[in-house]
Amino acid sequence: MAEILLAVIMLLHLSSSSSSSLPTSTVLDPLFLYIDEHQNEFVQRLGEWVAVKSDSSHRVHWGDIHRILNMTADRIKEMGGQVEFADIGTQQLSDGESLARPPVLLAQFERDPNKPTLCIYGHVDVQPAKKEDGWATDPYTLTELNGNLYGRGATDNKGPVLAWLHAVETYRATKQEVPVNLKFIIEGLEEIGSDGLDELTRQRNESFFSDVDYIVISDNVWVSRKPALTYGTRGSSYFFVEVEGPKLDLHSGVFGGSVHEPMTDMIALLGSLLDHTGKILVPGINESVAPLTEEEKKLYKDIHFDIEEMKKAIEVKSFLQDNKEEILMARWRYPSLSIHGIEGAFSDSGSKTVIPRRVIGKFSIRQVPNMEPSVVERQVKEHLQEVFAKQKSPNSLKVTTSVSAKPWVANLNDPLYIAGRKAVKLVFGEEPELIREGSTIPIANNFQEVTGKRVMMLPIGGHDDGEHSQNEKISRYNFIQGTKLFAAFFYELSKLQKDQ
Ligand SMILES: *[C@@H]1O[C@H](CO)[C@@H](O)[C@H](O)[C@H]1NC(C)=O
Ligand SMILES: *[C@@H]1O[C@H](CO)[C@@H](O)[C@H](O)[C@H]1NC(C)=O
Ligand SMILES: *[C@@H]1O[C@H](CO)[C@@H](O)[C@H](O)[C@H]1NC(C)=O
Ligand SMILES: [Zn+2]
Repeated sequence: MAEILLAVIMLLHLSSSSSSSLPTSTVLDPLFLYIDEHQNEFVQRLGEWVAVKSDSSHRVHWGDIHRILNMTADRIKEMGGQVEFADIGTQQLSDGESLARPPVLLAQFERDPNKPTLCIYGHVDVQPAKKEDGWATDPYTLTELNGNLYGRGATDNKGPVLAWLHAVETYRATKQEVPVNLKFIIEGLEEIGSDGLDELTRQRNESFFSDVDYIVISDNVWVSRKPALTYGTRGSSYFFVEVEGPKLDLHSGVFGGSVHEPMTDMIALLGSLLDHTGKILVPGINESVAPLTEEEKKLYKDIHFDIEEMKKAIEVKSFLQDNKEEILMARWRYPSLSIHGIEGAFSDSGSKTVIPRRVIGKFSIRQVPNMEPSVVERQVKEHLQEVFAKQKSPNSLKVTTSVSAKPWVANLNDPLYIAGRKAVKLVFGEEPELIREGSTIPIANNFQEVTGKRVMMLPIGGHDDGEHSQNEKISRYNFIQGTKLFAAFFYELSKLQKDQ
């Protein structure tokens, strides 16, 4: 019976130029069946990938990054794709030496000009992990417990990369044409900042990226038990405020009351940045925030977020806002300023009576559309200089910045998001939560800015996967349903293109 069905599918397939004109179930049912039947193989392959210690933070493991990139390339070649290892130069290491960076893997499959072209980004390096750090199982031995697959890289990002490859494999194994043109860009230095990737993207803008229509990234997680689509990330600027005074640290008993203390200046400077409600007091910042529309406001209603549960999880008595919508907006669509520390200030236990001669305050501002990091940095510097001038202090002030990442937001009415929503509905039987990330993930904005292509983040990891943490995992359910989601997404994207 199954053979007859398959033959019918193939006949139908041959008689129409694309599978996208077939009823959805005819296309997807055999794919989903294949994925269910081959899930143990898929999990086993994830185990082989997790076993490779491709920890990019230690150079001793960079050979393993080459190895996992080769394994990725081999799978793509087995499926008929073409691969190229793009050289991205050398990395200056903290010990002063420089080392050739692992290449970026660029891959593509046979191109049909009638199909949309999707480029998938992923990374195969991981964060460090040691059993002694408090893992319940060996981090490099994928271990299944209660439906969860524990291992470093299981969710960030080896599982999702494999799920994409398995989705392609599934089309081929069930003798269906993949309904979109596919390209892959897979890197091995994401966890230490993706150095070299932005430049490569620029270099290949006119070649590799020129025929790409859409870019999809699956390198984040859901925010609740419900599936999600991510349409925004916050940008960030990091500030160092240095106040320098006397030549030496001074004794407060001797000099206290007679000198302008750098710490006093610092407290005034840091205290001028925001008020007790979290409102940023630097002039100009609030005004540049994109206004909230009624349509956008509605998006927050349906997101599952339990205030009480979150209060318990992080042991706080209250949040700055008192309802779900406002808390989520404060995290995702408004800027925030956090003070991180004061270098040079006495911070040990005990009661040393020193007047520090030089202190460096550190804070960062998470940014949202339509803020521009270079403008924010200028506004902050001007504000601090103005506050400092009022202090009439003889000390010197210096404000510098590092990390400058732009915020990113996508258009939810883009075909990419419509296809993503339909695919989620098909596989999970419910609409995805439309979410943003409060943290800074420069990749989406970098791709969008350089290539001008539409970008979507389509996570398959669960909210409790613990990326970067001990006991990182992906559930078998998310890994396997995620593979179906990607297969269905190819189909929905091609169908949408056809329908337009
Ligand atoms: C990866 O493959 C390249 C050839 O494509 C080979 O030169 C290199 O030795 C391989 N590296 C590892 C670590 O397997
Ligand atoms: C921020 O600016 C908007 C106008 O762009 C204004 O309506 C709002 O009251 C301001 N909020 C604060 C906290 O100053
Ligand atoms: C990259 O190429 C696209 C056309 O595919 C173009 O619109 C865009 O401006 C280019 N980006 C840069 C940085 O040159
Ligand atoms: Zn990641």
